[in-house]
Amino acid sequence: MSDPGFLVIYSALAVLIFATLRKAFRDPRLDAIPIVGSSGPLQSYWDGLKFLKNAPALIQAGYDQYPEGIFRVPRLFDWLVVVSGPKFVKEVGGAPENVLSFRGGVEGNLAIKQVIGRAIGENPYHQITIRTSLTRNLHACFPEVRDEIACAFEDVLQLRGSGRNQTYLRNNVQFAVDVVRSGRRIALFPYFLRPLVAPFYSNKDKSFTVAMKILGPVVQERLAKENELGPNWPGKPNDLISWLLEDAEGEERTVPALVLRVLATNFAAIHTSSMGFTHAIFDLTTHPEYLLPMREEAKRVVEKEGWTKAGLNSMVKIDSFLRESQRLNNLGHIVMNRRVVAKDGFRFSDGTFVPRGSFLCVAARPTHYDSSIHENAAEFDGFRFAKERAEHAATRDPSQDIFTRQMISTAPDHLSFGTGKHACPGRFFAATELKAMLAHVVMNYDVAAEVEGVRPPDTCFNMSVTPNATAKVRFRKRADL
Ligand code: HEM
Repeated sequence: MSDPGFLVIYSALAVLIFATLRKAFRDPRLDAIPIVGSSGPLQSYWDGLKFLKNAPALIQAGYDQYPEGIFRVPRLFDWLVVVSGPKFVKEVGGAPENVLSFRGGVEGNLAIKQVIGRAIGENPYHQITIRTSLTRNLHACFPEVRDEIACAFEDVLQLRGSGRNQTYLRNNVQFAVDVVRSGRRIALFPYFLRPLVAPFYSNKDKSFTVAMKILGPVVQERLAKENELGPNWPGKPNDLISWLLEDAEGEERTVPALVLRVLATNFAAIHTSSMGFTHAIFDLTTHPEYLLPMREEAKRVVEKEGWTKAGLNSMVKIDSFLRESQRLNNLGHIVMNRRVVAKDGFRFSDGTFVPRGSFLCVAARPTHYDSSIHENAAEFDGFRFAKERAEHAATRDPSQDIFTRQMISTAPDHLSFGTGKHACPGRFFAATELKAMLAHVVMNYDVAAEVEGVRPPDTCFNMSVTPNATAKVRFRKRADL
């Protein structure tokens, strides 16, 4: 039994039986939701397999048919209910956790219990820390963020060593990569098999050991100081460990629990931000005409206000460029994954019923590419949102809120950060970080595509879209600085 070959065969058999039973004994009330794809048990099973490659086309086909409606597509073990149109998207975004569960959705797609740990899924208090303390401290911490950005570019482009702890940095990045890679694979198995297959895929213990070695003593000291001097001891650092300690309760106030929480927070931040920035760099090299106007804007603002968080607010073109890049390159074709957890299921305002245990989500990419929402929706127009903000400011029409076109603004038709109750709490940090990074790039470097005019193709697997991981971009430090 210890032979992994047996495990693979048993697992494959169990998966097949489970998939067939799940589909055969689905809740019949799901039948009222129209299907996009095949409906017969065997065909839908085949389509479920194809979904791993064909998800974008299937979701787009559903959206074209039901642009303001609800449809379902076959996955390996179940049906995925997909929602589109502002009315229904708002209903998903507004539903409480005990009805449509964000945590249940993440668990379904990323097997968080296995790849990070049970406590992170069951008590995600770090989301409060991000929403409150991190966001409140963006101004105060900006000089350190700015310094980190300048050092990171020097390091990554191998211009000089910055003296940062490379083992610590690499470990955080490796953890983020491992969580997504292994989590997606483990999540392809039914829940009862996940603990069995997880050790073959996940490297979480390795990353945790490294993090404990480096971060453990720092956290230990903070806990000791707090026990000795109380929560507001003089000289307490204004950083994530201190903020987490303000929100952590009970068994979360231990060294291992806090170290894991830092890793989990970094996971939420690293994967998303680095993919977003990679997309933005690919967009910049494919549309080099945006470089000089953004350089001019960044230079003007920095000369007037210095490198500050307030200064970033004046970088309207850079904000617009990033928002446009996010619009066209959402991190997945769908967003806002939820599991119906309410005992009585979930009923949309048009009467559509989704039974308990079902998974649902929102068709993000088709919404972003909808030409009834954006003019020339499929085209990259870097300053689209800057122009809209200027137009609305000029008309002074109170119904047109100019703040709705900022990178941080979410809406049922702009879903890069989700919308509603679970809209990304890290987006204020993410926007600050990405704007400061892009401003740094355009001010200090000339950048060019490996092949002029060619945007490296994305990688699509199941429901995710990842920017090309092997393409190269040319960076040259500006000679005229
Ligand atoms: C460009 C960067 C980012 C993108 C595109 C992004 C996107 C998202 C999306 C789509 C969601 C799910 C929304 C939903 O299902 O309704 C989400 C949730 C979340 N994000 Fe981000 N994110 C980014 C950066 C960050 C950063 C930097 C942090 C942490 C500092 C972070 C922390 C979180 C957390 C904790 C949640 C769960 C929220 C909840 O349960 O209420 N994200 N993010």
